[in-house]
Amino acid sequence: MNVETQPGGRPPIERRAPLELTVVVPTFNERENVPLLVERLDRVLAGTVWEVVFVDDDSPDGTADVVRGLSSTDRRVRVIERIGRRGLSSATVEGVLSSAAPYFAVMDADLQHDDEKLPVMLERIKADDLDIVVGSRYITAKTSAGLNQRRQAISDFAGRVSRLVLHAEVSDPMSGFFMMTRPAFDEAVHGLSQQGFKILLDLFASSPRPLRFAEIQCKFSPRLHGESKLDSMAAWEFGMLILDKLIGRYVPVRFVVFCFIGGTGVVVHLATLYLCGALGAAFAVSQTAAVIVAMTWNFFLNNFITYRDRQLKGWALVRGLLSFYAVCALGAVANVGVAEIVYEKKEAWWLAALAGAVIGVVWNFAVSSYLTWRRRGS
Ligand code: GDD
Ligand code: MN
Repeated sequence: MNVETQPGGRPPIERRAPLELTVVVPTFNERENVPLLVERLDRVLAGTVWEVVFVDDDSPDGTADVVRGLSSTDRRVRVIERIGRRGLSSATVEGVLSSAAPYFAVMDADLQHDDEKLPVMLERIKADDLDIVVGSRYITAKTSAGLNQRRQAISDFAGRVSRLVLHAEVSDPMSGFFMMTRPAFDEAVHGLSQQGFKILLDLFASSPRPLRFAEIQCKFSPRLHGESKLDSMAAWEFGMLILDKLIGRYVPVRFVVFCFIGGTGVVVHLATLYLCGALGAAFAVSQTAAVIVAMTWNFFLNNFITYRDRQLKGWALVRGLLSFYAVCALGAVANVGVAEIVYEKKEAWWLAALAGAVIGVVWNFAVSSYLTWRRRGS
């Protein structure tokens, strides 16, 4: 059928009936799944005016090309392609922002989610005048068949921790399958952390008022093609998101982690000093060794934890280590300088030392985040 014009020159149905639902699907290497998902949406959403937006982060397997292929003959299929960016949450947010529908749903591309529940969710959100309907794995069953034992344990633990910031008794706050109204999303969007995987958790935690929600039991099947991107990185992102929601209002989370690692560096410093002394080294030699060991320790821990998302590898790791030494050396100079100034003002020695340490750590954090772990791309 020609969708552009109809007999009598009237606008086509697709133009007249307002869009009701946008399905937002973040993708990374999902080319085989895309056509299958569109086919299923077409079937389950018959009778609804819908569209699907795939938000693809420049997948090497050419997912975006596959979507464009479908898009050229089916206007309900759209793609947003992002270059030099990664992240499930931020991709979801951009997909929603690109939509003009009053309702949107979020789901995985890999056919793990129970797409047949979409019409039920839509009916429910309208009938009960809700903000959000969550596709939950846990209302009736405590486990989900699609997860192995280790993933199940992680998922349970994450669920417990996230209730700290949730303000709601959601049985499955880790779910990646839900439907929401656009106005409720707009209220929360400016407060979102947009960190990592947990967009649903982020939405609940960032909404200025408690969300009116319902949960619908869904089955969660094993993924069809490709592999899961939820690895240790996702665990890191989850931890950072929870910390951000708990303390991010007062101090940047990265700074807190950086200070904490700095604290362990002090212990390493003292231990090295003690060891060298015990081995009979002169104080100046021991102190130099201790400084180098502590800086190296801090560098690797920060590279592994604080800046996991910008982790340096290969030559960049060597360059990063050297720049970190340089930054810390200047930080030490600032530390001593400030401590002296305070000490000369006849303040207590510990206050002087503390002032020096604070200046040193702030300097190290600010400059190394720029020089050593500079964000590339986005
Ligand atoms: N644009 C974009 N960018 N999409 C991504 C990225 C990214 O960096 N990483 C993953 N995706 C896409 C995948 O292609 C998939 O469509 C969807 O996001 C979810 O990723 P999966 O790799 O399928 O994650 P999962 O199945 O292990 O995790 C699912 O279940 C979790 C519950 O245990 C997701 O729905 C999670 O959100 C959910 O928390
Ligand atoms: Mn999945």
